[in-house]
Amino acid sequence: MTKVTDADRVLILDTTLRDGEQSPGATMTHAEKLEIAGLLDEMGVDIIEAGFPIASEGDFRAVSEIAKVTHNSVICGLARARLPDIDRAWEALKHAPRSRIHTFIGTSPLHRAIPNLTQDEMAERIQQTVSHARNLCDDVQWSPMDATRTEWDYLKRVVEIAIKAGASTINIPDTVGYTAPEESADLIRRLIEEVPGADEVVFATHCHNDLGMATANSLAAVAGGARQIECTINGLGERAGNTALEEVVMALKVRSDIMPWRTNIDTTKIMNISRRVATVSGFPVQYNKAIVGKNAFAHESGIHQDGMLKNAETFEIMRPEDIGLSATNLIMGKHSGRAALRAKLRDLGFELGDNQLKDVFVRFKELADRKKEVYDEDLVALMRAGDDPE
Ligand code: KIV
Ligand code: ZN
Repeated sequence: MTKVTDADRVLILDTTLRDGEQSPGATMTHAEKLEIAGLLDEMGVDIIEAGFPIASEGDFRAVSEIAKVTHNSVICGLARARLPDIDRAWEALKHAPRSRIHTFIGTSPLHRAIPNLTQDEMAERIQQTVSHARNLCDDVQWSPMDATRTEWDYLKRVVEIAIKAGASTINIPDTVGYTAPEESADLIRRLIEEVPGADEVVFATHCHNDLGMATANSLAAVAGGARQIECTINGLGERAGNTALEEVVMALKVRSDIMPWRTNIDTTKIMNISRRVATVSGFPVQYNKAIVGKNAFAHESGIHQDGMLKNAETFEIMRPEDIGLSATNLIMGKHSGRAALRAKLRDLGFELGDNQLKDVFVRFKELADRKKEVYDEDLVALMRAGDDPE
């Protein structure tokens, strides 16, 4: 079971491979999922939600193989509140050195209407499914989906049932990105204060970004007592996405003066995994995206450049090196050589052999002859099917 051993530590559960992959069009291949799981494992993610094993053969295979090849992270599989889902999740997870079953059900009035269950019938289902999961695995996470639109008394009641049935993590999802930071903090604080047994479990926060408040809501939940943040790389996820891992992790690092909680993430690995997730999911990162956007460390105006040259802290609150960016930005043009091209492509997530580099270098030179500057996206296009962006 993943326990928080000190009060300052916040666990990071990454769900890029589950909630992230649920974004329409973000499907990844089996090999890509294994690669991303390896990078998450290396960067210090505490729990990897690797998929939804009953959803498809592909998800089942991905979860079981990720469970076998990762070394540090707990591997988690999602299951609805149905016994066959939970059995299937366990089947995929059982060979992992450390695994977690995550089971959920929609508890708000709108979500209860879908299976047409009364409050009592749903409470009974939660009791049965969480205890079934707990009989298989000693690390069980339970989520009341749409918690932030669930009646307060009912939410307290079902959280207590899940704890008594053996859940060790209670995740409070803001499924539709409806909540605001003060409410988010309050909700967790009151659950911890009022639900019997709450001090025995870890509370998690899982926010969606429909109103652009996912990062603020996640951090507020931590201030309220949550000790696990659920997030994805680049904020990938359904609709407007999930909380972005890089944002919460860097916010906790940069503002440790007012948010004294630490994660286990090696932040220097952020840029590489961000680029790999953008490439394999086919979801490019917006230029002005916090932390990992192309312009997040770029300065163009004269005043900013002047300030930067005198003291980088004038306009930068983080060092590019902290997220794995080299401080020097290579400007690619017709005078650039092969070594610079190789380094630039490596930065962009492409590792080339000598022959491949030779071929790309010829095409790069043709392009550089026609363009003043060859931008990162030109190089990515060049790498994809020999695209010529002009
Ligand atoms: O957003 C959500 O409610 C979820 C649950 C499955 C935890 O992703
Ligand atoms: Zn979600």
